[in-house]
Amino acid sequence: MIGLYPGSFDPLTLGHENIINRALKICDKLVVAVSQDNQKQAFLSSEQRFNLIKSIYDNHTNVEVLVYQGLTADFAKKINADFIVKGLRNSSDFIAESQMAQLNKVQFSKLDTIFLDSTDLYRSISSSLVKQIYQLDGDISQFVSAKTLQFLSELK
Ligand code: PNS
Repeated sequence: MIGLYPGSFDPLTLGHENIINRALKICDKLVVAVSQDNQKQAFLSSEQRFNLIKSIYDNHTNVEVLVYQGLTADFAKKINADFIVKGLRNSSDFIAESQMAQLNKVQFSKLDTIFLDSTDLYRSISSSLVKQIYQLDGDISQFVSAKTLQFLSELK
């Protein structure tokens, strides 16, 4: 089974890594796909986000990292994904994510979305807040992995 984990990952947080590690238990291969169309102001370029995720999962033969443009449903069809995986942190995520799951399924009827309930430790972490704290010179070492921290510090 091929799982697709699409997102902005701007930057990848410990919350994302937790979802990736748990998703690997329910699929043979997980495609972590960086969307270039997410309506959000980008902090890292899609190439930087790709490079960071690739460096973290370099030794995982069951993780493929890709960048895509356009609709997630079209991309899922293109890579022959069996399902999408998303994490749910709270009720706001539930509303937004279930809406996307339904619309993705309308576009590609085979495509179900499997939701993983966020681990409590990571429920409050979002890329937007992490990037804000980082840009204001705060300490983000509790929210991202050592590799992400190093990657970001090398950009400064
Ligand atoms: O990490 P995010 O920001 O929660 O990811 C959201 C993402 C990239 C998965 C979503 O914005 C998306 O699917 N964008 C691609 C364009 C698309 O398919 N839009 C319609 C969704 S129903």
